[in-house]
Amino acid sequence: MKLIRTENYAEMSLEAGKIIVDKVRSNPILTLGLATGSTPKGVYDYLIQDHEANRTTYTKVKSVNLDEYIGLPAKDPNSYHYFMNQTLFKHLDISENDTHIPNGTASDLEQECLRYEQLIKELGGVDLQLLGIGQNGHIGFNEPGTAFSSRTHIVTLAQNTREANSRFFNSLEEVPTHAITMGIASILDSKEILLLVSGERKAEALNRFVNGEISEDFPASALKYHENVTVIADRDALKYI
Ligand code: PGA
Repeated sequence: MKLIRTENYAEMSLEAGKIIVDKVRSNPILTLGLATGSTPKGVYDYLIQDHEANRTTYTKVKSVNLDEYIGLPAKDPNSYHYFMNQTLFKHLDISENDTHIPNGTASDLEQECLRYEQLIKELGGVDLQLLGIGQNGHIGFNEPGTAFSSRTHIVTLAQNTREANSRFFNSLEEVPTHAITMGIASILDSKEILLLVSGERKAEALNRFVNGEISEDFPASALKYHENVTVIADRDALKYI
């Protein structure tokens, strides 16, 4: 595992953005694994600015997202479909058909999980997966206790995850109780992983990730089994390290 120490959120985003742009330029047909949440927003801003300034093109890039809430249609402002379109896709020249996110309103959700896993396989796997980490160590929506062997599956969101994400909703009650997420084994299949960690509220999780044991109680610890992980963290997140 490689650890890149940065001063703040802006520098973390810049470092990650440069790595992604380099990959896209050297392999314009790659499959990017993307994440939602507060953490990757700065990276997406960087990709957009670079696309405008340097004309990096995404016409042959494919993307797969980690997860989606169950029950929220794509047009719901809190869905991850909506987030990705607004925050990134609509600003790039990536084709809508090449951007993939689990469908949280599929009539058969078990079937949707199988379809998504098969889709990733058909795309040739994820070349570069961008990840955040939850305060409880979740990656994607794989909450503590998830088997490391898990594939795309339906999860019940942990109460602390719903509380953490309620900042985007009008109330905690509105936060969906379930989601579809790529599993831990699906994530570990990625050829390369970039884990971004910013802010003091993630400092304990980062410390446990770096110094703690590998355990299903702490999903991110599975990344230690992967041979190509780069962690980019800012000074506040690195408080205990
Ligand atoms: P955040 O979420 O980027 O909004 O902090 C990360 C996560 O929960 O995985």
